[in-house]
Amino acid sequence: MIAVLDFGSQYSELIARRIRETQVYSEVLSYRTTAEHLRKLSPKGIILSGGPSSVYDKNAPQCDPEIWQLGIPILGVCYGMQLMVQQLGGTVERAQRAEYGKASLLIDDPTDLLTNVEHGSTMWMSHGDACAQLPKDFEILAHTENTRCAAIANNNKKLYGVQFHPEVVHSIGGQALICNFVYHICHCEPTWTTEAFVEEVIREVRAKVGEKRVLLALSGGVDSSTLAFLLHRAIGNKLTCMFIDQGFMRKGEPERLVEIFDHQFHIPVEYVNARERFINKIENITDPEEKRRRIGHEFIQVFEEESNRLGPFDYLAQGTLYPDVIESADTNVDPQTGERVAVKIKSHHNVGGLPKNLRFKLVEPLRKLFKDEVRKVARSIGLPEEIVRRHPFPGPGLAIRIIGEVTSERLNILRDADFVVRDEITKQGMYHDFWQAFAVLLPIRSVGVMGDRRTYAHPVVLRCISSEDGMTADWSRVPYDLLETISNRIVNEVKGVNRVVYDITSKPPGTIEWE
Ligand code: XMP
Repeated sequence: MIAVLDFGSQYSELIARRIRETQVYSEVLSYRTTAEHLRKLSPKGIILSGGPSSVYDKNAPQCDPEIWQLGIPILGVCYGMQLMVQQLGGTVERAQRAEYGKASLLIDDPTDLLTNVEHGSTMWMSHGDACAQLPKDFEILAHTENTRCAAIANNNKKLYGVQFHPEVVHSIGGQALICNFVYHICHCEPTWTTEAFVEEVIREVRAKVGEKRVLLALSGGVDSSTLAFLLHRAIGNKLTCMFIDQGFMRKGEPERLVEIFDHQFHIPVEYVNARERFINKIENITDPEEKRRRIGHEFIQVFEEESNRLGPFDYLAQGTLYPDVIESADTNVDPQTGERVAVKIKSHHNVGGLPKNLRFKLVEPLRKLFKDEVRKVARSIGLPEEIVRRHPFPGPGLAIRIIGEVTSERLNILRDADFVVRDEITKQGMYHDFWQAFAVLLPIRSVGVMGDRRTYAHPVVLRCISSEDGMTADWSRVPYDLLETISNRIVNEVKGVNRVVYDITSKPPGTIEWE
């Protein structure tokens, strides 16, 4: 295992993912993790992440100075390197020229850490401070035009530092560097494979659950579906999959879900039709947060009632993923004042968001995985591609894509428009070019003309975006022809819509969903 100590960098998780891509398990831990705790965990290597602070800030996060004595190889990245330099007696100063973006790495010592990294490789830099004086027994491995100490090492003690970010895709040779650290310096074995993970989970779940019964809330998304496949394989009919149909899913989706699970893979699904209840609960509600709150609340109600009807159950299976359990630095801390700044943008709701006080014990077999690893596991255990690569879909479904009041009529309009979007991008072979592509229905009306007649109907917003993780997103530069076809089809095929507009807002400042 390689431990990544997180100093608040937006890339800490990415470092762990890159290491896992080398088939070595990696965990993200808080920078506050003590040397004693690390000794117990006995990782084969430690990586100190970057971070937004300067090592000289009043509240700059520091690691336990004892970690340098552990005898475990350590690689400091950006802020992590500066911290290494500072704590070991060197000096860090404001750089004469801050370096942001690409830089050419000029290698002085092509061994150990920089084996197979080409002289002149492009590396991604993002720093305002730089190492001015190296600690004792350190040497320079590489420099750039602006940065004298771009990579440094104390080979004897196996301490390394890089000013650039080897983990980002723009750093050519970054992955080679990570491999060097993981394999040649830390001597890890490539044991983190999908097959090994599946076997381990099945063994663990069997041992934990025994003859007890497990309940799973299936949503049709890749996480809960993977969970269902894994658990079914582990404990067979001791698993009950419950699918609550809120009535806010896309056209044909509830039926398709039951067909795939029940008929194709013989994993029985308890289908709960709660459409009436949900739509009644949000009658006349136009405030987005209130809508979300009521849907979330109703979901828990229905879930409790139905689990009582089908139960008793001992365990609840949850699709908790690794990013939810990371014990990371709080990136919402102002490095100058140390104050926490948290801003709620919108309250998310999904089947993993059940309250903690339910009386079940939890089974969370995916809690070690990143999202891309879930997809790999999903494929390896036979989930169909249509689920593995399905676009993300919000828990409250189409209800938060109908701006204003949700009615059956509006749901039908949006469902038909959304169907056209999906159908057309699939036909054009572009489904996987987008992170999400969907329609939003607006409550306003505008004037149009169709077949010489005046129309006065709703506009539909088309939203197509690209994203890595849903945290930030860019609007997609969709070919005009595709826009035209979608617009024509929606206006012609969907009654109640006479105009289509395209949303050209990235996130931030927009969010992906409209509510
Ligand atoms: P926003 O709108 O916040 O969305 O930019 C970011 C990503 O999250 C999805 N999303 C949700 N997912 N429950 C979910 O499971 C929710 O309540 C929810 N709201 C938004 C959204 O589709 C996008 O992928």
